[in-house]
Amino acid sequence: MVLCSADSYDLMSRKAAIVIAAQIIAKPESVLGLATGSTPVGTYRYLVDFSREGDLDWSQITTFNLDEYRGVSPDDPHSYHWFMKTKLFDQINIGKSRTFLPDGADENAGRACEKYDTMIRDAGGIDLQLLGLGRNGHIGFNEPGSCFIKNTHCVNLSPSTIDANQRFFNGCQEVPRQAYTMGINTIMKAKRILLLVSGMEKADILHKVIYGPITPDVPASILQMHGNVMVIADKEALSEMQ
Ligand code: GLP
Repeated sequence: MVLCSADSYDLMSRKAAIVIAAQIIAKPESVLGLATGSTPVGTYRYLVDFSREGDLDWSQITTFNLDEYRGVSPDDPHSYHWFMKTKLFDQINIGKSRTFLPDGADENAGRACEKYDTMIRDAGGIDLQLLGLGRNGHIGFNEPGSCFIKNTHCVNLSPSTIDANQRFFNGCQEVPRQAYTMGINTIMKAKRILLLVSGMEKADILHKVIYGPITPDVPASILQMHGNVMVIADKEALSEMQ
């Protein structure tokens, strides 16, 4: 695991955007795994800037997002479809038919999740997977539990995740209770993983992710088993490391 420190959220975002940009330049037909949440917003801003300056061509890039709320349609402003459209896809030259998220509007969880894994496999797998870190150590929406769940699946969101994500909704009651998420194996099969962590509130969990035991109680701890992980974290998130 390569641990890279950044002095601020902005510098973390810039470094992450440079890593993703280098992937796109080195392999213009890359398959990227993308993430939502507050953490990658700055990274997407830099990627949009690089694209406007003419440094990046997304025309052959394919993307798969980690997750989507169940029962939420793509044109709902709370959906992760909407997040990705507004924060990134509408501002770069990517073909919309090459951007994929789990189909939260499909109430048939088994069908929606199986289809998603098949699509990732058919695309040749993920070259670079971007991840944020939940306060409880979740990645995608793989919540702490008694086992690691392999494939894309439907998950019941934990009270801590519902609480953390209520800031994007009008209160807790409006946060969907379920989501479709890539599984741990889906994520671990990515050739490279880039984990971004920002803020004091993630310091304790980041320490557990990197130095703690590998356990489904801290889902991101499984990343210790991956051979090509880069963590970029700001000073606050790294404050427990000494
Ligand atoms: C959500 C997403 C995760 C994300 C996490 C952390 O639960 N499903 O993919 O990493 O939030 O979000 P934030 O970056 O806002 O702290």
